Amino acid sequence: MTPAEIAPKDRLIVALDVPSVDIAEAMVNRLGDSVNFYKIGYRLAYADGLPLVGRLADKGKKVFLDLKLHDIGNTVTQGVESITKLGATFLTVHAYPQTMKGAVEGRANSNLKILAVTVLTSYNEDDLHAAGYRLGVSELVEARAQQAQVLGVDGLVCSPEEVGALRKIVGHQMSLVTPGIRPAGSASGDQKRIMAPGRAIVAGADYLVVGRPVVEATEPKAIAEAIQAEIAQALG
Ligand code: C5P
Repeated sequence: MTPAEIAPKDRLIVALDVPSVDIAEAMVNRLGDSVNFYKIGYRLAYADGLPLVGRLADKGKKVFLDLKLHDIGNTVTQGVESITKLGATFLTVHAYPQTMKGAVEGRANSNLKILAVTVLTSYNEDDLHAAGYRLGVSELVEARAQQAQVLGVDGLVCSPEEVGALRKIVGHQMSLVTPGIRPAGSASGDQKRIMAPGRAIVAGADYLVVGRPVVEATEPKAIAEAIQAEIAQALG
């Protein structure tokens, strides 16, 4: 599917960052037909959330498994081979060359797509410096994007601020998935590089990941639908 063919509704990925599978399933039921794509991350995956991937897939939903893998290449390959059997659409790995190479080998010709996390959106220049990096955020993001493309990675997770520059580097060959999205009026939480949904789409994002503004809302469905409407409007 080319980026232009993705329906506006399917561009919203709701992050199920909730404490239990019961709460996650209640949220999925509450969102009903309005949301087709969910992200399962650490919190749920390590709370018996992995079997939920198959259950969501059986309901016709797509799942982004946000496990941000990083290990020696062989271990990543074997782990990803196992993950291909769960029924997820996207899996994240950190954008280190050995890790990305191992993940691409592990997904082989399955339906699973590998997304590389360039630099976490909670990191700014000071955080990178404290972690021992000499490159700034945008330089590191761009260097990692180039490596990901060469290694055959399917997409990138990046801050909405980086989407425009990354599109120029990777063209439309890779999916760009952006967290750090905040609809007008919602709290930024720990996200340091944030953007409104419509602006992120105009900047070139294919998919937007939104967690707290939806799952912590009093009316999650209304918020999700408002974000999708903003996405549709931005696409013209
Ligand atoms: O609640 P919020 O909308 O900030 O959730 C964003 C989600 O995207 C979280 O699950 C977070 O782990 C994830 N994420 C991120 N930055 C990245 C990669 C993933 O915020 N670079």
